[in-house]
Amino acid sequence: MERKMRVMDKIEISRRHLLATSAATVAVVGVAGGQGAAQTAGETMKHVSRVSLKVNGQVHDLDIDNRTSLLDALREHLHLTGTKKGCDHGQCGACTVIVDGRRINSCLSLAVMHDGEEVTTIEGLGQPGNLHPMQAAFVKHDGFQCGYCTPGQICSSVAVLEEIKANIPSYVTSNLTEKATMTEAEIRERMSGNICRCGAYSNIVEAIVEAAGRKS
Ligand code: FES
Ligand code: FES
Repeated sequence: MERKMRVMDKIEISRRHLLATSAATVAVVGVAGGQGAAQTAGETMKHVSRVSLKVNGQVHDLDIDNRTSLLDALREHLHLTGTKKGCDHGQCGACTVIVDGRRINSCLSLAVMHDGEEVTTIEGLGQPGNLHPMQAAFVKHDGFQCGYCTPGQICSSVAVLEEIKANIPSYVTSNLTEKATMTEAEIRERMSGNICRCGAYSNIVEAIVEAAGRKS
């Protein structure tokens, strides 16, 4: 019986110790959490960075939240609303722009990642009265219906022609036209990241083929 009492005492001491330790731990975590929260609130200003973007030939210096996507920087900060926000998740291609010669989904990329880089949007390709050949081809072939996907489709198409040209050996291009070396299947494959809910795909391909022919 006496032995059992001693064991119970030990258990009680251990329990008190555990409770005290836990309380101290909670207190420490609580204090640390509070500091963390205070730091987060106090550091809000540090989340802003100076970013220099050359958009359609014009340099813009922006003080921008580090979490701002390139798409939002273009639309909300520079008011270039030609670039469209479809899914905002990299699934539709409506936000496609050309950065340093490569097409990207601007919704998937942070503006701060493009400091010093050159961005071309649909506004920079051409304007009414002075359309880019690809824009003119889209108009001619009815490559759009509602038009929401169209800026992304056109930016992507322009970049696709450059990609194809870069992949064709010079001994081929000297003997064949670019149009002849680019199959419809290849165009469809390369444009597969640009979704058109209106289903204007056949007309889009026709427009790209024509624009490629003009360039050859
Ligand atoms: Fe960027 Fe859909 S809005 S991929
Ligand atoms: Fe309407 Fe493509 S033209 S989504």
